Amino acid sequence: MKPTTEPPKSEAPKYDLDSPSSITVVVNKQRPINPIDWAPDDLVLPAGVPNVWDHPIRAEAATALEAMYAASVDAGVPFTVTSGYRDYALQKEIYDGLVEQGGVAFADKDTARPGFSEHQTGLTVDLFGEEGCSLDACFGETATGIWLRDNSYRFGYILRYHDGEQATVGYTYEPWHFRYVGVDVATAMHDQGVLNLEDFFGLPPAPTN
Ligand code: DAL
Ligand code: ZN
Repeated sequence: MKPTTEPPKSEAPKYDLDSPSSITVVVNKQRPINPIDWAPDDLVLPAGVPNVWDHPIRAEAATALEAMYAASVDAGVPFTVTSGYRDYALQKEIYDGLVEQGGVAFADKDTARPGFSEHQTGLTVDLFGEEGCSLDACFGETATGIWLRDNSYRFGYILRYHDGEQATVGYTYEPWHFRYVGVDVATAMHDQGVLNLEDFFGLPPAPTN
């Protein structure tokens, strides 16, 4: 006799938040990259996108960035990459330099410790535009910053550290820091008005070290 109901299927989680190679990996002050010195194996230079230090990013993120750049040109707000992939050693150099300059609390406000930076995933870029304000909160008020905030989701990027969200994301406002998560997640976050990956995936806030 045929069973009247199907046995329950075991469902695989929809998103992989843990593997360093997952485009939905969540990295924050409580969630280091694992292993801590992990490096991507598919880094490429985004083609035709101005890039101050010629920093590569992962191939899928690069393809999306190329499309976003073309759209930004069409919209009259072309952007430049100032930082893309940063390996463990480079992040350590940056973080240690800031500690030397202003102490641990000063460094922790806006710079990840080595092994805890989204830049090490190869899925993140820092951007600025023709109006300047590179790596400055005023970038959020420029036409380029506003366009990126409002349109990046269409290309799978999210503004990761919004104004006033430090208690959840652990860092002060960074209107220049865009993280690739794929169009599905970025669009769902946009449509639902969810600002943070922690909230979208139901993870605890990561406010402190
Ligand atoms: N500025 C961000 C938090 C980083 O260092 O990855
Ligand atoms: Zn950044």
